[in-house]
Amino acid sequence: MAILTTNIIEAKTVLDAGGLVAIPTETVYGLAANGIDSDAVSNIFKAKGRPSNNPLILHFASIADMEPYIDLTDFSEQLGLLAEAFWPGPLTLLLPKSEKVPEITTAGLSRVAVRIPNHSLTLLLLEQLNYPLAAPSANPSGYISPTTASHVQKQLGNKIDLILDGGPSDKGLESTILGWDENGWPTIYRKGVISAEAIEQVLQKLPTTQLTHPKTLEAPGMLSSHYSPNTKTILSENLPKTMGNHKNKSIGLITFQTVYQGDVFIKHQIVLSKKGSFDEVAQKLYAAMHELDELNLDVIIIEKMPETGVGTAINDRLTRAAYSEK
Ligand code: TXA
Ligand code: MG
Repeated sequence: MAILTTNIIEAKTVLDAGGLVAIPTETVYGLAANGIDSDAVSNIFKAKGRPSNNPLILHFASIADMEPYIDLTDFSEQLGLLAEAFWPGPLTLLLPKSEKVPEITTAGLSRVAVRIPNHSLTLLLLEQLNYPLAAPSANPSGYISPTTASHVQKQLGNKIDLILDGGPSDKGLESTILGWDENGWPTIYRKGVISAEAIEQVLQKLPTTQLTHPKTLEAPGMLSSHYSPNTKTILSENLPKTMGNHKNKSIGLITFQTVYQGDVFIKHQIVLSKKGSFDEVAQKLYAAMHELDELNLDVIIIEKMPETGVGTAINDRLTRAAYSEK
């Protein structure tokens, strides 16, 4: 079991020695190590069972701390605008890296992913360090991201040194990933709670969205079979039909706003947001999936969200976690 603490000095001691610490962020918990120490970074890949071609995000406390690690020649103005609007917060930027970032951190790519997370404990910790923290989500590769310290303890507790307990993640969905294409146009590589329209307001350009990368694997986390429970999981666009198809099984059900009223027996049901708020859905979704995945059910059925606003980012994750049934 990993040490569970709220003490950032203990966390710093482990990190300074090249160890692994799970850190709270507003999106999901991250599995952190010194991002410019290749050996420490390599231990992140080992603990997660993560393929070495899948790069990591570097986390900083401020833009001043970030500057030595990125090349701002073409992006200084846009970075300033985005940082002003969204940082600290759930936005990750892909920027040309400087030679200070080791190849292992970016999986050999020329761009590095950077963000300033919005969590007071983690910001205090980052301020104490003289290096950035590389941190992917703190789950075994391919599994659901953790939104509490106990999710991390259950999944990775025997592989890491320490968990900094910062309470449940506030947003609950991984950050929006934004980069620029070869023509310098902003491009979203992973959807999140910060939408294309919100970014357009700041840059006066509507980002394109490029979520799958058949040839170049620009964001390998966007391939299928991610964010998945161990239990067979179905994303349903037609709940009565899907329920009927599985009526003799032991079912766990996650719905958006209302309790399912049909005659199919449900072992355990979770309604994510009675008031119909996507923010609440995002915050609670992964915890609901973790909870049902522990119950030895035959199947987890999740109701598809309406395709508007943050609903589209939630559906994006659900599509990767589940088989779709119309
Ligand atoms: O909210 C978040 O972003 C959380 C918290 C802990 O910060 N982190 C997170 O990391 O979700 P991870 O590793 O689970 O997902 C990061 C995604 C991966 O799909 C990875 O392929 C992509 O970012 N990525 C990282 N660096 C990249 C790069 N240089 N080029 C393209 N994609 C990159
Ligand atoms: Mg992840």
